[in-house]
Amino acid sequence: MTPAKIVAANWKMNLNKVEALSLASEVLETVRRENLYNVITILAAPYVHLYPCARLLEGIGNFPVSLAAQNCHHEAQGAYTGEVSASMLRSYGVEYVIIGHSERREYARETSPMLLAKLKMALKNGIKPIFCCGEPLAVREAEQQNVFVEQQVREVLTGLTPEEFAQIVLAYEPVWAIGTGKTANATQIAQMHQFLRSILLSIQPQHGLSTSILYGGSCKASNAAEIFSIANVDGGLVGGAALDAREFVNIIAAAQSLA
Ligand code: PGA
Repeated sequence: MTPAKIVAANWKMNLNKVEALSLASEVLETVRRENLYNVITILAAPYVHLYPCARLLEGIGNFPVSLAAQNCHHEAQGAYTGEVSASMLRSYGVEYVIIGHSERREYARETSPMLLAKLKMALKNGIKPIFCCGEPLAVREAEQQNVFVEQQVREVLTGLTPEEFAQIVLAYEPVWAIGTGKTANATQIAQMHQFLRSILLSIQPQHGLSTSILYGGSCKASNAAEIFSIANVDGGLVGGAALDAREFVNIIAAAQSLA
């Protein structure tokens, strides 16, 4: 049986309290009204919105929408002013965490050893990481994307035990497609996802086939069905298009139509 498709919203640093809660409620209500239960829907909200969103979800009961954080710290606790730990997130019902997004690699200078430590800390606390990889434009133009992405993936995922590896989700997000409106074409996505599958299988033969691989980068309602029908694309990580409830739910609906 193929695993359920995953559609994750990455809200990034957007939305105030009122906007975040109204977006979350509208997504939840529409998912329920339209019976979009065969997709794992994830909302990756900024830290401050996680608790109110968790309360919204609690009120609904058994429901296929999960919360994610957009980052967590790699240490368990201590004198790290301004940081948030994986155990704090878990205590608020957070089930997933995005790790290694290209914006954090770039602006927060996150390195592979740090990302591996974050993955392990999240997993130790029962949170499933959505681990991101993807090449910048110059690397794609030089046709070095496979070498680049393989290094990003191997440097981190070879450090996981088989049990840890079995819990992760991988996301391929070409940096040049993020927030640019420029989606990778079907051939580029197909080639990279097949390549990633082969890397996952070579790292962990027993789990590599069942790891979900998401595509991210200007994914929207009008291209979601085409992207999600490509082999080895198990869903999407959606930024800009996830800030509009109707648009985001249409992406979930596209995933469900292929389930
Ligand atoms: P985008 O962002 O959909 O706005 O391109 C995707 C992401 O950064 O996760």
